[in-house]
Amino acid sequence: MAGDLAAEKMSVRTDGLRIPGHLAVTMDGNGRWAAARGRPRTDGHAEGIKALRRLVEYAIAYGVGHLTIFSFSSENWTRPAQEVSFLFSLMRRFVDSDLKRLIKNGVRVRFLGSRDRLDAGVLALMDEVTGKTARGEVLELLVAFNYGGRQDIADAARALARQVRDQGLDPEAITAEVFAAALATGTVPDPDVVLRTSGEQRLSNFLLWQSAYSELIFIDTLWPDFDESAFRDMLIEYTRRDRRFGGLGQDTP
Ligand code: IPE
Ligand code: MG
Repeated sequence: MAGDLAAEKMSVRTDGLRIPGHLAVTMDGNGRWAAARGRPRTDGHAEGIKALRRLVEYAIAYGVGHLTIFSFSSENWTRPAQEVSFLFSLMRRFVDSDLKRLIKNGVRVRFLGSRDRLDAGVLALMDEVTGKTARGEVLELLVAFNYGGRQDIADAARALARQVRDQGLDPEAITAEVFAAALATGTVPDPDVVLRTSGEQRLSNFLLWQSAYSELIFIDTLWPDFDESAFRDMLIEYTRRDRRFGGLGQDTP
């Protein structure tokens, strides 16, 4: 498996650790990281990009198949315009600096979220990245950008309603599985772990439907400080969890 090759390259030890097939991450705490240093919030975002680069590296090395990152939420538009435009320029810079490496490492990028409100330049950039990485087979990187979980669910409901109206879809055929397939994540398996940094313990409209049985892991590390030891701690915690999916767990007497 390609992920194993990458693990050899980085020589990580995965013995005894359970590796999530799908890891979803809310990268939180950039602003607080910067504030703690008396620096502008934008410095925290710039530093956060380095942590994202590391996260992708760990995901490949440890053999995570799908990695979803919450990079810009539908609600982030309420931030000052200057911060919003900085976040957009950062995405462009990240693509400029990292696209080649992503392709070389076999990363396939897809975007989850609404295309509304995004300018033509950003949309073109997203399409370019999606197209140029389409053959990646090592890691699927799902970038939740202009994404909201409720919007995702409403969009799926609207798409199915249109199919009922226009294509003769039988409403009785709309099962949970059919509904899930209509979400932005489509056939991607649900996240095994939803990780949030910075000590906040909320989902904040991230993958609401998809996280029904995810292990929620909250860590105090601020996003720019996220490193391999934080990543391993997350894996250790996930390995300890007893996943039941509504049944009886292994430790149940
Ligand atoms: C996460 O860091 C980055 C984005 C939401 C884009 P924050 O900007 O939320 O940092 P805090 O929460 O203010 O520390
Ligand atoms: Mg925050």
